[in-house]
Amino acid sequence: MITKCLFPAAGYGTRFLPATKAMPKEMLPILTKPLIQYGVEEAYDAGCCIMATITGRGKRAITDHFDKSYELEHQIQDTSKENLLKEIRDLIKNCTFTYTRQNEMKGLGDAIYKGKSLVGDQEPFAVILADDLCVNPDGDGVLTQMVKLYNKYKCSIVAIMEVPKDQVHKYGVIAGKEIEDGIFMINDMVEKPDNDKAPTNLAIIGRYILTPEIFEIIKQTKPGKNGEIQITDALLTQAKNGMVLGYKFKGKRFDCGSVEGYVEATNYFYNMHK
Ligand code: UTP
Repeated sequence: MITKCLFPAAGYGTRFLPATKAMPKEMLPILTKPLIQYGVEEAYDAGCCIMATITGRGKRAITDHFDKSYELEHQIQDTSKENLLKEIRDLIKNCTFTYTRQNEMKGLGDAIYKGKSLVGDQEPFAVILADDLCVNPDGDGVLTQMVKLYNKYKCSIVAIMEVPKDQVHKYGVIAGKEIEDGIFMINDMVEKPDNDKAPTNLAIIGRYILTPEIFEIIKQTKPGKNGEIQITDALLTQAKNGMVLGYKFKGKRFDCGSVEGYVEATNYFYNMHK
């Protein structure tokens, strides 16, 4: 059973400055809901009830969002607006929210390692990067799809998608043997390769299921691309010593860490809403 989901959210979100100067990127709304709430809902739908966030300085709005606001509750009690809080109230009631800080921005691998104190090292856990907003109008959410796959293979899994060849330098990229339709046994992984040096155009997006051995591997992983501890490097070690799968998920993903992707997601959700 995967019951814990980690949300690394310590990044500075520099591509959204000045909006992210005093407000976390994860609180940017798509219509009326902040990005991180979409992520938490996806994790909840996949069976998680412990939501563990890695925060940093200036991220207190996230903590407040997943807590009761007594003044507000009092103000809107018995009005038609009460309905607007239904989803977030349900999450607060049914999930436990825990937090720890990453004091220095040492990379996604390091942020995940910080999560060890929250998710423990006994069970597999999920990871969602909330700025990658995923939807699947035709069925299971992306994390639910991955949990199902985990139940079959019991190993670490990364969500992947094909990207144009001139975009691969923005992603971690995998290569491997396709063992089932859209499921790859990974034998190579590179973080942000030059476009002409990438092994494939299969890019990792912000959804992972990790087995707890990853913590020991991250601990041994030296800083890689940009001097940061890269989860991609740790996962390559895990793939070489055992098995890591790449899963071509069903659905759509919006890169809401970029202005373009954010606007695209807003338009998509607005059209759905209409
Ligand atoms: P990004 O590099 O996309 O996010 O990291 P960023 O640094 O916040 O954004 P820009 O590039 O400055 O605009 C991917 C995810 O990993 C988390 C970020 O919060 C984001 O969700 N992260 C990254 C950490 O939590 N800690 C790190 O040291 C690095």
